[in-house]
Amino acid sequence: MTHQPADSNRRRLLAAATTLGVAPWLLSACAQTAGAPGATPAKTGPSTSARRRLGPLDVYPIGLGVQWHPGQGPQAVTDLYASRTTRQAGIALIQRAADLGVNLFDTAEVYGPFMSEELLGEALQGSRRERAVISTKFGFDVDLVTGQRRGSTNSRPEHIRQVVEAQLRRLRTDRIDLLYQHRVDPNVPIEDVVGAIRDLIKQGKVLHYGLSEPGLQTVRRAHREHPVAVIQNEYSMLWRGPEAQVLPLCEELGIGFVPWSPLGMGFLAGTVNAASRFEREDFRANLPRFAPDALPANMALADLVRTWAARKNVTPAQLSLAWLSAQKPWIVPIPGTTNLAHLEENIAAASVTFSTAELNKLNAAVAAIPIRGERLSPAVLSATGVEAPPKR
Ligand SMILES: NC(=O)c1ccc[n+]([C@@H]2O[C@H](COP(=O)([O-])OP(=O)(O)OC[C@H]3O[C@@H](n4cnc5c(N)ncnc54)[C@H](OP(=O)(O)O)[C@@H]3O)[C@@H](O)[C@H]2O)c1
Repeated sequence: MTHQPADSNRRRLLAAATTLGVAPWLLSACAQTAGAPGATPAKTGPSTSARRRLGPLDVYPIGLGVQWHPGQGPQAVTDLYASRTTRQAGIALIQRAADLGVNLFDTAEVYGPFMSEELLGEALQGSRRERAVISTKFGFDVDLVTGQRRGSTNSRPEHIRQVVEAQLRRLRTDRIDLLYQHRVDPNVPIEDVVGAIRDLIKQGKVLHYGLSEPGLQTVRRAHREHPVAVIQNEYSMLWRGPEAQVLPLCEELGIGFVPWSPLGMGFLAGTVNAASRFEREDFRANLPRFAPDALPANMALADLVRTWAARKNVTPAQLSLAWLSAQKPWIVPIPGTTNLAHLEENIAAASVTFSTAELNKLNAAVAAIPIRGERLSPAVLSATGVEAPPKR
């Protein structure tokens, strides 16, 4: 199926939205104009009618993160942490998620590299693809043929075009529903990046775009060029940084928000204790908040989550996902899992709600627990919140 380029309705809507300084889907939510970017909801999944508005997208309230890499052996797959699975089991898990009504799937060129997109494409090909909202990311300097990481970022327009062509092939589709810049490129003006994406949108190869861990001014500049659909940043009870400035900016501009690592890399699901130590390949091994000197203090948060989960008769993972959903109606977490039981548990979090009094109490309790240790290593942290250079 090929998507048509912008029609005149869509252009009018974009012009009106630009004048008002808001995202066009805020207008289209009222107008519901056929063909407008805000009026193209994915079809309802088979087993649930629960839905959330994520910027212009209409999605199940819990998505699925597919961040997998080759493990030891030809069929082996590993996540960033300690989970192991196989290609076939990974594909079956994605299909199960789709059949249970999940439609937002998150991946990236660099996850594998290439492997996660390949598995997602294989899993969704056919009728599941039509119900899915596929989100993927470009922006690291990955060799298009070998998959080797050559340097840090690469958002040069020509490179973006080449990456997207390769992504479409791997994902076995003719369009990417949501394309993110994975990290802001300090060498490429955001206007040039958005220009390249806008061309891809005109060609129907990309439907919407987003930014991951961007600087705030870069968001505003990007939004002026073409409305940003979604921001994807780390956010959970373990890292509440977006609350200060990013969520208010999303609210102001009508941008949806996707929290990555919504389970705090397993911590909020209760899989870490004060004595946990991580293998060298486990991403958490280099993160200060998971270091031996930080974990004992940070267990106060895991204990709080466990207490509240018991009170609500849900699991810690469900409590943690429901907390995110309760913060704003346009937040959609994308927990990662290799485990079918965890998948089903996470999906069921969509029906966990809080009364206002409960939420106030829980928010206050979370805010009272200081987290020890930086969220990421200095090298990874330095690529977050970056502002793109000015356009000359
Ligand atoms: N934009 C970015 O820069 C960025 C960065 C990181 C991640 N992401 C995206 O965010 C997604 C999710 O983040 P993440 O995988 O880093 O962290 P996460 O979702 O916070 O945690 C994943 C970990 O939690 C465990 N888990 C999941 N559900 C569970 C449950 N119900 N009970 C117990 N344990 C459970 C998983 O192990 P099992 O396999 O055993 O379930 C896995 O170890 C990724 O897949 C990726 O798509 C984006």
